[in-house]
Amino acid sequence: MEQIGHFCAIAGAMTVFGTLLFQMVVFDRAMRRLLAAAVSVTIAGAIASLVAQSAEFGGPVLTVLTSTWFGQVLAMQTLLVVLGACVGGRAAVVLAGLGVVAAAGRGHGAAMADEWGLMASHAVHLLASAAWLGSLPALFVTVLAGDLVAARRYAGLGGIAVLALACSAAWQGWGLAGGLPGLVGTPYGAVLCLKGGLFAGLLAAALLNRYRLVPALPGARRVLLGSMIAEIGIGGLATVAAVALAGMEPGMHERPLWPFALQPSTLALVDPDLRREVIGGLLWCGLAGALALAGWWRRMLWIGVPVALWLGVPHFDLLLVPAYPTSFWQAPAPATPESVAHGETLYLQHCAGCHGVGKQGDGPQAKSLSIPPADLTAEHLWDHADGELFWWLTAGMAGADGREVMPGFGGVLSEDDRWALIDAIRATNPHRPLPAPSLHHHR
Ligand code: HEC
Repeated sequence: MEQIGHFCAIAGAMTVFGTLLFQMVVFDRAMRRLLAAAVSVTIAGAIASLVAQSAEFGGPVLTVLTSTWFGQVLAMQTLLVVLGACVGGRAAVVLAGLGVVAAAGRGHGAAMADEWGLMASHAVHLLASAAWLGSLPALFVTVLAGDLVAARRYAGLGGIAVLALACSAAWQGWGLAGGLPGLVGTPYGAVLCLKGGLFAGLLAAALLNRYRLVPALPGARRVLLGSMIAEIGIGGLATVAAVALAGMEPGMHERPLWPFALQPSTLALVDPDLRREVIGGLLWCGLAGALALAGWWRRMLWIGVPVALWLGVPHFDLLLVPAYPTSFWQAPAPATPESVAHGETLYLQHCAGCHGVGKQGDGPQAKSLSIPPADLTAEHLWDHADGELFWWLTAGMAGADGREVMPGFGGVLSEDDRWALIDAIRATNPHRPLPAPSLHHHR
């Protein structure tokens, strides 16, 4: 109920803003019934989400409305939208626009008031989606009434809105999702990907309308109307996804579970030989691209492009390294003298038997193992991110034959213990890189 309320409040506000904007820049035509419908939906949605929220807080509706941030912003948002719809004209567009932007105050931007960049891009995102999706019903009504010029004039508004939408979405999505690991490894990222797919669908419909159907007017009027209904439907789904996202913990605040066995890494580029190989691969792919572009020599195209790709692409597996679910986790807190001391105690209990008291891989048990235990004082330790070490300490390590060579400690040691061990082996390693640009990290 709460989510449905949020959805109606925002969809209604977007439609009021989009309709007013449409009247101002595309086609001036009275659309009282559309505006009235949108206003009713906004008010109904606001009331529903207010009632649901009050039930959640366990307080009377009036108190929630007047004395919580949520209630105040909701009231202001609704008021601005209703005022805009009643006033009409240029001022109305501004009022309704402010109402739409006020919704940003209820989202994550508000929860993280220090992140102005995110909040601003959220506002741009809302306005752009309101300008595009919100004006589609107005366009639909106009085309239905037979005013076909509107469809031709609409392209400018639509184009600008789509551009702003894509830019703000990329900026915001990447930031909030927490980069690639957040995008593929958190529920938030999954919904975001879904929304991205819907956006692609919307874009496809918009391009179809703009470049195929509108030029074929008036003959293609019915097809255009159908395509617009589809566009409005997909837009509605994208808005549902957006409302769902607003209620979720952003991926950047979660620990992503990396779902793949490999991850991108630039580690290979440090080695001159490997770097040469990667550059060779890039050159082959560049050649493939050049051939594809210079498509005039057709026979070359069909043979040359696949051959160049076939020669080039295999070099890139150097840019992929094994990955584990926790590869992108970071230590929950920086190392302290206490955590290092605690880790040292645990090390002597659990690890020294194999890795040796001095951590050089020469403990008493070392000889009985098929693979020598790693020398934890070697520089190599820094090639591994915290999250990788954490995975090995948790799940253990297997040799090339798949048999366990180091046991996992996930069932024996707490998470904090495992992080303390990592603090300890990092702290006693003599090769700590100066201002550590950790190679496996994405930022
Ligand atoms: C049964 C012996 C054994 C015990 C006990 C053991 N390890 Fe290991 N450890 C190994 C072996 C063998 C390897 C090398 C595996 C390989 O190279 O694939 C290894 C590798 C590692 C690595 C990877 C280092 C790198 O740079 O690749 C780390 C980190 C590590 N151990 C830490 C620990 C810690 C911390 C403990 C105690 C909680 C511990 N190990 C207990 C046998 C052991």
